[in-house]
Amino acid sequence: MSAESKSFYLTTPIYYVNDAPHIGHAYTTVAGDVLTRWHRQRGESVWYLTGTDEHGQKVLNTATANGSSPQEWCDRLVETAWKPTWASLNIAYDDFIRTTEPRHMERVQRFLSGLKDQGHIYSGKYEGPYCIGCEEFKLPGDLLPEGLCPIHSTPCEILSEENWFFRLSAFVPQLLQHYKDHPEACQPASARNEVVAFLEGGVQDLSISRSSFDWGIPVPWDTNQVIYVWFDALLNYATAVGLGDALGSVGGKDFAQTWPADVHLVGKDILRFHAVIWPAMLMAAELPLPKKVFAHGWLLVGGEKMSKSKLTGIAPADITDHFGVDAFRYYFLRAIPFGSDGSFSWEDMGARYTSELANDFGNLASRLIAMIEKYCEGVIPAVAGNATLEAALAATLSAADSAILNLDFQSGINAIMDFCKRVNGFVTEKEPWVLAKDPNNKAELDAVLYNTAEAIRALAVLLHPVMPATTETLWNSLGADRTLGSIADQRIGNVAKWGTLPSGSKVTKGAVLFPRLEEKVD
Ligand code: ME8
Ligand code: MG
Repeated sequence: MSAESKSFYLTTPIYYVNDAPHIGHAYTTVAGDVLTRWHRQRGESVWYLTGTDEHGQKVLNTATANGSSPQEWCDRLVETAWKPTWASLNIAYDDFIRTTEPRHMERVQRFLSGLKDQGHIYSGKYEGPYCIGCEEFKLPGDLLPEGLCPIHSTPCEILSEENWFFRLSAFVPQLLQHYKDHPEACQPASARNEVVAFLEGGVQDLSISRSSFDWGIPVPWDTNQVIYVWFDALLNYATAVGLGDALGSVGGKDFAQTWPADVHLVGKDILRFHAVIWPAMLMAAELPLPKKVFAHGWLLVGGEKMSKSKLTGIAPADITDHFGVDAFRYYFLRAIPFGSDGSFSWEDMGARYTSELANDFGNLASRLIAMIEKYCEGVIPAVAGNATLEAALAATLSAADSAILNLDFQSGINAIMDFCKRVNGFVTEKEPWVLAKDPNNKAELDAVLYNTAEAIRALAVLLHPVMPATTETLWNSLGADRTLGSIADQRIGNVAKWGTLPSGSKVTKGAVLFPRLEEKVD
């Protein structure tokens, strides 16, 4: 971190390493990547954090069942599954935190000691149901009739332990006031309503330590206990950026530059942890609260949440091997309103791939390059203008920008793809292949091709956060890398300046952006 101004700071959940990632984890992480790339292209300083949640009973049990120590298990999964998956999906995170790192463990212990000194921690007895899949203490009212966890459909353990407790209930009035004053702090509205109803229904104090196993961070003043995995995990968002470090130190400066987080992206399964427990922990420590928790919906399999525990996960590679990485990044954000549940279907993805990516976008680009080669000796013709396209682009930019800043990825992408359709309509209407038959039309033909190229230049920039590799290929085939610099350096705010693509540069026929699916079967 270097810039002086406050960075746009976005986090994903830190995922349990009880297994390899599936497309549900990829959904959150891709959404975060698209949003942070968009903010970077707006010229903002950005910090994007992801990582892994490694303590607790679930990870310990999985490691043990696989004949491994928990640390070895975590090391292996992080290095062979989690990090390689994010690399394969082109995730440009700035930091990856693991809860077994000393930088995290030390800061968690210091934070907890601080809370104890302030009187927010006391010892007591916990008795009640606990779901290992959720790593969550359940209220009897949360459970299915047979005492099963509603998320995992498995029986809960009945715990009875002497634990340390956090005075969560004391913060309920302050939390309710917070969501009243800052409705944007918990999104979408359905998520906020759920949280408010939960708070109004009464909240118990939270057991924040466990004594029956030792895979966790020791409670600093009582080393027979380890810190409850969620209390440990939630703190990652702050420990990763220097929580509690001295003001002038590296950590202190990082903290000043990032905190409070702008967006915690989470799935709706872990909303309460993020919108009730986490802000209460920060209130207890008198730290500023995150500006927004956004809870997106679930990817479903057979109507149920896709899950590692239930072994219903689809690996991202199963889809990217067939459709490519950029189509994967595009599809889920385009097809499912962010905040709603959705199901993955090969048919739907195949249909959108062909109509939206291969036909509307990929074909437009390859036809334009082919026509510039054929009619203009491969050189971008003189700068021209078209009032209709220019106005449509300006409207597209403002619609896409406001939608994406609001995490409405679907509307943002729709706006951009509608512009793409319009450009196709422009080409169909102007019929450059007809104009080319008569040399007297040369000036008009050049103008049509310039305007098409210029529109595609804008499309490449606007779609770059969603599909970084494909748009870069396109950018380079327009020769724009040599005249305008790298595509990642193009500012969203300048996209609608018509005439940006210089004339005179040579186009090259690059690889097909979205190959026909039947040609890809190996
Ligand atoms: O809960 N659909 O980790 P986790 C959409 N370690 N998103 C899904 C999904 C699905 N079917 N399945 C998983 C934990 N996700 C804790 C988090 S944070 C301080 C600690 C995504 O491995 C979604 O973001 O169970 C969900 O909230 C997260 O993965 C849960 O991952
Ligand atoms: Mg889970």
